[in-house]
Amino acid sequence: MQITVKRLAAEDVDALIEIARESWRWTYRDIYSNEFIERWISEKYSKEKILNEIIRSLSNFDTIFLGALVNSTLTGFIELKIIADKAELLRLYLKPEYTRRGIGKLLLSEAEKIMNTKGIVEWRLYVHQQNSIGVLFYKKNGFEVKDIDGDDFVMEKRYKS
Ligand code: ACO
Repeated sequence: MQITVKRLAAEDVDALIEIARESWRWTYRDIYSNEFIERWISEKYSKEKILNEIIRSLSNFDTIFLGALVNSTLTGFIELKIIADKAELLRLYLKPEYTRRGIGKLLLSEAEKIMNTKGIVEWRLYVHQQNSIGVLFYKKNGFEVKDIDGDDFVMEKRYKS
C-alpha cells in the first residue's frame, strides 16, 4: 500500500465530500441521528463551502488542507486553521475501511512539519467525548484533554520547535 500526502486541489472536492459523508455515518452512528448527520454534511460540506476552503488553503497561509492518497485514490483529509501563533485542527477524517493503517498519524505528522516551519508549537482540537476512537487516537499522538466544551473534549498538544 503506497500512501502519499498532498495539498488538496479543486479537483478533489467531490472525493473529499464523499469521504466526509462515509466517515460521519460511521463515526457518529451511535452519537447523532441519521437526519442530523445528513444535514450536517449537506450544510458544512456543501460543494461551494469546501471548494472555497480548498482555494483559500492554496492561496492563504492561514489554512492547511491536506489529503492522503492510497495508490492515487483519496482516502482521508486533514484541515487546520492557524490563529496567531497557534493552530486548530478542524477536521481529520478517513474512509472507514482505511482506518487503523497509520494514515491518520501520517496526516498529523505532515501537518506538524508545516506547523514547525511556521513556528507554531501548539495545536488544539475539539472531539466529541463519545468518539472513543478519535479520543484514543489523539491521546496516542500526544494530545491531552484540557477542557470540556459542551459535548466535546478540548485537547491540546505542544510541539518542540
Ligand atoms: N477501530 C478502533 N480503533 C481505531 C480505529 C478503528 N477502526 N482506527 C484507528 N483507531 C485508533 C486506535 O487507537 C489505533 O491504535 P491500535 O491500532 O494500536 O489500537 C490508532 O487509532 C491507530 O492509529 P492510526 O492508524 O494512525 O489511525 P487512523 O489512520 O485510523 O486515523 C482517525 C485516526 C483519523 C481518528 C481515523 O480513525 C478516522 O478517520 N476516524 C473516524 C473520524 C474521526 O473520528 N475523526 C476525528 C474527529 S475529531 C476532529 O476532526 C478534530
